Amino acid sequence: MSVGKPISRVEGRRKVTGGALYAADNMPPGLLYGVLVGSPVAAGRIVAVRTEAALQLTGVVRVLTARDMPRFGAVTAPAAVLRLPLQSDVVEYEDEPVAIVLGETLEAAEAGAARVRVEAEAVPALVPGHGGLSTAPGEAGLGAPMRKGDLQAGLKAARHRVVQEYSQPGRHHNPIEPSATVAWWQGGKVTLWDSVQRGTNVPLVIGQALGVPSADVRVIAPHTGGGFGCKGYVWPHEVLTAAAAKVVDRPVKIVLSRAQMYSMLTYQGFIRQEVDVGCDAQGRLTALRHGVVTTTPISETFSEPATEISKNLYACPAIWTSQAVERANVNLNNAMRAPVEGPGSWALESAMDELSHAAGIDPLDLRLANFAKVDPQHGKPWSSNKLREAYAEGARLYGWRGRAARPRQDGPWRIGHGMAACTMGNFRFPATARVRLAPPGRAVVEANTHDIGTGTQTVFVQIAAEALGLDASEVSIRWGDTNLPDAGPVHGSAATMCTGAAVQAAAADARRRLAEALGANADELDVRAALRRASAEVVGEGRFRLPGNAPFDADGGTSPYAMRTWGAVFVEVGIDEDFGIIRLRRAVGAYSAGRIINPKTARSQMTGGIIWGWGKAAMEGTPFEPTHARWLAKNLSNVSIPVNADIPADIQIHFVDEFDPHASPTGARGIGELASTGVAAAVANAVFDAVGVRVRHLPITPATLL
Ligand code: MOS
Repeated sequence: MSVGKPISRVEGRRKVTGGALYAADNMPPGLLYGVLVGSPVAAGRIVAVRTEAALQLTGVVRVLTARDMPRFGAVTAPAAVLRLPLQSDVVEYEDEPVAIVLGETLEAAEAGAARVRVEAEAVPALVPGHGGLSTAPGEAGLGAPMRKGDLQAGLKAARHRVVQEYSQPGRHHNPIEPSATVAWWQGGKVTLWDSVQRGTNVPLVIGQALGVPSADVRVIAPHTGGGFGCKGYVWPHEVLTAAAAKVVDRPVKIVLSRAQMYSMLTYQGFIRQEVDVGCDAQGRLTALRHGVVTTTPISETFSEPATEISKNLYACPAIWTSQAVERANVNLNNAMRAPVEGPGSWALESAMDELSHAAGIDPLDLRLANFAKVDPQHGKPWSSNKLREAYAEGARLYGWRGRAARPRQDGPWRIGHGMAACTMGNFRFPATARVRLAPPGRAVVEANTHDIGTGTQTVFVQIAAEALGLDASEVSIRWGDTNLPDAGPVHGSAATMCTGAAVQAAAADARRRLAEALGANADELDVRAALRRASAEVVGEGRFRLPGNAPFDADGGTSPYAMRTWGAVFVEVGIDEDFGIIRLRRAVGAYSAGRIINPKTARSQMTGGIIWGWGKAAMEGTPFEPTHARWLAKNLSNVSIPVNADIPADIQIHFVDEFDPHASPTGARGIGELASTGVAAAVANAVFDAVGVRVRHLPITPATLL
């Protein structure tokens, strides 16, 4: 049995010994280095881009501006930025690309970029907190509001009620590998080496923007050096790299600088949420209203669907939600691990804690009292929901029930305990995969998937190995090339469930074909022995499809079952009363997420999610500078993220034993983003428990506690 084994990453050795190639490592002959030059103003018009000084430098080949670029075709492909830069003199956010300097060396291109002078006419920018508010019902991208039951009657009937606002700052992705694209045109076709979470999206966008058939765009995506959602969309630099290479008819490489990762890519936006929730004397919810305002750009919309959690987590007779956006001169915010329920749980699970105090009910009991036996939104049965088991095991491992009897002080540290529910939507995408069985003994999985550090390659190798009756060490994988079968994305916590199912089917198909070739019975076939006897390669194809061939399915939308992932997180914090310093002392996470294919990589995912959640709770936030309407700290030195010294050794992870036959034939649901939900609220709840200060704006820094 290969599935269920805690094996190490199949690509791990190559990554830590420098053998792994990343997009920017590719150097086709004649390569030019591109450096993007951004707008100095956040709103207004570019009057002139002065390039003479740059062009005088040795090694600077061209400086491309809006005048040199082709007019791009309209982009309608999913998961792509629709408004592309370098198309007019209008700028809508600070550092919006206005020129591309191309050099024979990176040094020449960077020196040239420093010499480009951009003259701009600024108009007053709309800044977050002072932008234009839009609540137009039905506006594209705002998501459907939920109107279940009589909200006013429910609020009136409530014995206890909490009405509060919760907010969070912008925060940026900062994967170790910045986004990078290399483009090489040959005979009207282009090859891109790109750092992505879904390579198959890129040809659609490049095809539409540059007016070429998407079949003529090949994307090779080798190792990906991290991506928390920022590589899931197709961003302007990818189109610009392909366009620049076409204009100068030489291969071009563009790597975003760390600063450009703040301004030319994406982030989780400013989000304000209001929750109004009431319960009866027994703690049963009588009404829940949840409204969200996300700050988003002038001419594109990403409204954080933070209200999804309120539609789905608790049984409640009246649930009303609303989504709105505030428009400002900012670059496009977008999904960042965990989107949706990540922000949503910060608000709802903080409010639930406040309600538990108002009602005098233990926070865990309040949640148990409102366990949703069926999906609160549509009344459908759950595909599998072991949230109560997760609550119970998490509470047991943490010692939740005995917490009052333990010391509340440790030297200068006041100790507090907090918990929150974790939940994430279940996003499914169709997927295809291939498995080759090549005598005398090789099995190879082929799927255009990627690995952002989560262990996807390893998991697919395990799934194929199990279906073939081989050891995982006997199976290898080829990935990251649009010439391979479309395997769906590595975002939305979807890959194991969806691509894994396609791999499982492909392996079963390969086994069947091998048996057929040998005149044997597939079920009884010893694949290892058969591969020694076989004379020719067999190729198995596998597919994971959704009912009605739907291109996407959220929470089992195409199924008679509602599907989500569940869990609970318990945290102990220490607060130094003199200095306001806040420390995570230990954490327990218990999860219901279907079958766990690899307990080692899964545990890493959840530990990482809790650490990431701690960063969101207590450290992260990119300051926005309103005078010039720009991100103030576009580097890693001014943005705090957790380091090892911030993280206690004692993070315990538990998975409820589960097999979900409805979400995927693998039995799995998604785990990637689940663990970073709930954490910020659990921390705020623990802070309140420790020192009685209720913080409703993230991050919870010493200044907020003094
Ligand atoms: Mo995630 S925000 O779906 O990479």
